[in-house]
Amino acid sequence: MDISVAGTGYVGLVTGVCLASRGHKVTCVETDRQKLAALRAGEPPIFEPGLRALMAESAANLTFTDDYAGAYKNAEVIFISVGTPERGDGYANLKYVYDAAEQIAASAESGCTVVMKSTVPMGTCEKLEKFFACHAGENVRIDVASNPEFLSQGTAVRDFLNEQRLVFGVRSASAEKVLRAVYAGFTKPVIVTDPQTAEMIKYASNNFLALKISFINEIANICELVGADVDTVSYGMGLDKRIGEKFLRAGIGYGGSCFPKDTLALHWLAKYHDYELKTVKAAIEVNENQRIRLIKKLRKYHKSVEGLRVAVLGLTFKPGTDDLREAPSVMNINILLEEGAAVTVWDPVAVPRVKAMFGDQVGYADTIERAVEGTDACLVLTEWEEIKNFDLKKFKHLMKTPLILDGRNCFDLRAAAEAGITYDSIGRKRVTPAPDGSCA
Ligand code: UDX
Repeated sequence: MDISVAGTGYVGLVTGVCLASRGHKVTCVETDRQKLAALRAGEPPIFEPGLRALMAESAANLTFTDDYAGAYKNAEVIFISVGTPERGDGYANLKYVYDAAEQIAASAESGCTVVMKSTVPMGTCEKLEKFFACHAGENVRIDVASNPEFLSQGTAVRDFLNEQRLVFGVRSASAEKVLRAVYAGFTKPVIVTDPQTAEMIKYASNNFLALKISFINEIANICELVGADVDTVSYGMGLDKRIGEKFLRAGIGYGGSCFPKDTLALHWLAKYHDYELKTVKAAIEVNENQRIRLIKKLRKYHKSVEGLRVAVLGLTFKPGTDDLREAPSVMNINILLEEGAAVTVWDPVAVPRVKAMFGDQVGYADTIERAVEGTDACLVLTEWEEIKNFDLKKFKHLMKTPLILDGRNCFDLRAAAEAGITYDSIGRKRVTPAPDGSCA
C-alpha cells in the first residue's frame, strides 16, 4: 500500500520504518531540514534500539520528504503521528494535529484513510472527519480512524512488530478494511470499535499503568516507615496473576512523554465534563511528591544543600532512551542548583541534550568514577546497566561522604552494607556503616 506518515518523532518514525519493513511503500514527511538530512542519510534523529538497522534494511520502501503535498496527494493511508504536548492547563495541545489535517485537506486528490496514531482526547477523530468533510477537495472522501500505539521507548521497534493487540477505532467498514490491509500478517488480537472507545483504550491503559506505579510508590513510602521491603512486596503481589508483575517497580516516579501528559489530559477531560477523576488525581499528586523524595532524604543527611558537591547518575526518564522529557533528573538538578549545590552529572547517552539545557551550570563526567569523586552525595535517577554493575566499594573510596540516594533500587542491600556506605533507596531498609567501621 502507499502510506504516508506525518511526523517523524518516536511514534511516526517507528511506524513508518516498521510498515516499510512489512513491504508497504512509506513516505515520511519531515519539514525540519536538519532532521530530514539525517533521515535521508539513514540516521534516525532519535535513539531507539534496532531502528537504524531496520531503516537500512527497508530503505527501498522508505522515502523521506518535506514535500507534504506530494506525499499526501495520492496516498491510500496517511498516519498522523505528530506531537500532542500538554497545554498549560493540562489539556492536550492539538495544534500540530490540525496543521497536518489542513495540509492533508489541501493536498489529497483522491479518497484516503487518515489514521490517528497520536494520543488525542476522545472525540478528536470525529471532529477531524467533519473537518475533512468541509475542507477537503470536492469528491475527495477522507475517512478518519483511530489506531493508538502502545510502544515503549527503548523497545518500540519490537513492540510495534509484536503488538499485544491492535485497536481499530473506525466508523465505516471501508476504514476497517484499510487498517486490516495495513496490518496484514500481524497475528495479534484486533479490537474493532468506534474511534472514541479506541482513543479511551489508549488513555485508560496509560492512566492505569501510571496509577499502578503511584500505588506501589506509596506502598514503598509506607514500607520505609514500617521497615518492610517494597521489592519483595512487589514480587509477592506480582505473582498474583490478577495483579501481574509489570509496572510495580517502586522508584522516583514516572516520567517520559506519555504518562505525565496523559494523566493530566484525562484528568482535565473529566473535569471538563464536570466529573472528578479521583484515582488519577491521586496518581498525579503522588508522582509529584515522589519526584522530590531523594531531595527530601538528602536534606535529612545534610542540614543544608548549599555548598554540597552532588553527583547525579542517570538523567533520562528511563534506560534505553536519550529522552529527557519529564525526566525526574531535570527537576532534581534544578532544585539542587537553586539550593546552591555543585552538581556533576553522568549518563551514557543524554549528556548532549543535558548540555543544551544546563550549559555550564553543571559539570559533566565521562565516567561514573569521575562523577562521584570528592562528592558529598550521589543521586541515582535512572537504572542504567552501567550503574547497576558499578562496584559499590568504589563509592566509599571515591566520595568525600559516601552517601548514595538511589531512586531506582539499583543495588543489593547486602552489597551496600559490605561496601561500608550509607545507602538509602526507595521502600527498603536504610543501610548505614557501623560506627566501628565494620558492616551494619
Ligand atoms: C509508555 C507506555 O508504556 C506505552 O505503552 C505508551 O505507548 C507510551 O508510554 P514509555 O513512556 O516509553 O511508554 O515508558 P514506560 O516503560 O512505560 O515507563 C514510563 C515511566 O514509568 C518511566 O519513567 C519509568 O521509569 C516509570 N516506571 C515504569 C516505574 O517507575 N515503575 C515501573 O514499574 C515501570
